[in-house]
Amino acid sequence: MLVAEATEFLDAGRPGVYVDATVGLGGHALHLLSHYPGVRLLGIDRDAEALDEARRRLEPFADRVVLVEGENERLDEILDDAGVGRIAGLLADLGVSSLQLDKGERGFSLQRDGPLDMRMGGGGLTARDIVNGYPEAKLEQIFRDHGEEQEARRIARALIRERSQVTIETTFQLRDVVRRAKRGDGGRGHRRIDPATKVFQALRIEVNQELQQLETLVKQGLKRLETAGRLVVISYHSLEDRIVKNILRDASRGDVDPVTGRSRSETQVLEVLTKKPVRPSESEVARNPRSRSARLRAARRL
Ligand SMILES: C[S@@+](CC[C@H](N)C(=O)[O-])C[C@H]1O[C@@H](n2cnc3c(N)ncnc32)[C@H](O)[C@@H]1O
Repeated sequence: MLVAEATEFLDAGRPGVYVDATVGLGGHALHLLSHYPGVRLLGIDRDAEALDEARRRLEPFADRVVLVEGENERLDEILDDAGVGRIAGLLADLGVSSLQLDKGERGFSLQRDGPLDMRMGGGGLTARDIVNGYPEAKLEQIFRDHGEEQEARRIARALIRERSQVTIETTFQLRDVVRRAKRGDGGRGHRRIDPATKVFQALRIEVNQELQQLETLVKQGLKRLETAGRLVVISYHSLEDRIVKNILRDASRGDVDPVTGRSRSETQVLEVLTKKPVRPSESEVARNPRSRSARLRAARRL
């Protein structure tokens, strides 16, 4: 999503190593490689299935591509292992891929029944472990903090009741418990957005530790950028966008002089290129409704 905009902000006419930290099915990567012969691409994803597809699509550019299965918070280590010091650009297009969303058995989708998994990569807790194992207060907190769900308490209580009877194994089981818990306030009614959407978002973030991963990625990425190097992040909900906005703002301010209260220009390492996040055009949203919530922020290393 926002492929043309992301490419433009990356200013990829400068030759060098560009990291696509969420290479997914290789859409952004393909665009970069085919338009800019000086781009060498290091693509990272924690999803082995996605990497297989990316490898297939990027085959014509194999001599300029390295793909690594790994997590964003390991960026430093991945770059060191690949023998890369400074990078010309870093792109992150967060969230889930269409492959993850469309396959019911991955457990991400509200629209498809499947096991409650939600792991983007191989290891760690599944959504099933969390829903059936976390204490009530922790579930409530996750739904509130990661889902901005106003009825977090009521839903957590309903889950505890349900799981005392049966194990919650599937996406539809979970969705139905949440729908019933919210019914007192109108339930599904004629709403366009499913009442369980925020709970699903919250669980996905918890399972994949998405916010911590993002924070580490952006901080490590900024340190690796060469002068004039670009960072571009596309996020899909306000929690992610806030993290990116705050890190970029702090890095662009530099140290504040305790006497004058002004930023010291010599410690400013970054220029933010997007005062407001860039949103997809109406025609992109019409073509691809999932792009509706996308927001792009970009910065340039000084
Ligand atoms: C929206 S998709 C990227 C789509 C890609 N830009 C394209 O054009 O095909 C996001 C991808 O990022 C991966 N991902 C998300 N968080 C990650 C993390 N912390 N570490 C590694 N990969 C991650 C997901 O597995 C998914 O494949």
